[in-house]
Amino acid sequence: MKGYNNVIEPPFSDVFRKDHMLKGKWHSEWFKNNNPIILELGCGKGEYTVALSEQFPLKNFIGIDIKGARIWKGAKESFQKKLPNAAFLRTRIEFIASFFAQGEVDEIWITFPDPQLKTKREKKRLPGPTFLNLYRSFLKDRGIVHLKTDSRDLHEYALSVVRKNNLEIITSVTDLYNEMPGDPLLTIRTYYEDKFLSKNIPITYLSFRLGNEKEIISQEE
Ligand SMILES: C[S@@+](CC[C@H](N)C(=O)[O-])C[C@H]1O[C@@H](n2cnc3c(N)ncnc32)[C@H](O)[C@@H]1O
Repeated sequence: MKGYNNVIEPPFSDVFRKDHMLKGKWHSEWFKNNNPIILELGCGKGEYTVALSEQFPLKNFIGIDIKGARIWKGAKESFQKKLPNAAFLRTRIEFIASFFAQGEVDEIWITFPDPQLKTKREKKRLPGPTFLNLYRSFLKDRGIVHLKTDSRDLHEYALSVVRKNNLEIITSVTDLYNEMPGDPLLTIRTYYEDKFLSKNIPITYLSFRLGNEKEIISQEE
């Protein structure tokens, strides 16, 4: 990955309890434009980052994952296709606030996250209150969060948090391929999505707006 100029792999010491040098400077220093920035969290091989950056050349996309071997595939593909609006960041999502400043990000995609549904693991769920509050620190006010998952339980959980906090729901479907056939955005298929589809597991999709004025609380509070 070191040969790819579209990958950022900062050492732990650069981001643990401190800001990365690109924080607040992705537009001016990295993409060199003022186009919207969209993140794909837990991007794995980065299918959304690559496909969306091809479909939307006037938007910037950053795939984020901790596993270098997975990111490598998306990084290689977007490097070979010379996509200037696609980048990959190798880090733990827990450190994400060290990378992005208030209002710097327009949208977030969460694609097939590990569901983390065992009790007491609420803090680890990417669409849960702990992470939503983290996203509020850099997402534009009322920026969109998209969640695609094979886990009906995670979908229902995310929906309950959204409802508890009166967030605006844009779309909520529990069987995407039957309920929204042909939607070009949603038919980009990730590696995990293909695995679930081959087992006939329905794919759910939820999108909502996250306001930054009020703290997100748990559906249990
Ligand atoms: C089930 S895989 C889904 C990958 C990809 N989005 C897909 O649909 O094929 C979950 C991904 O999230 C990443 N991940 C899980 N927890 C993470 C964390 N705390 N920080 C960064 N990446 C994480 C894993 O490395 C893995 O690639």
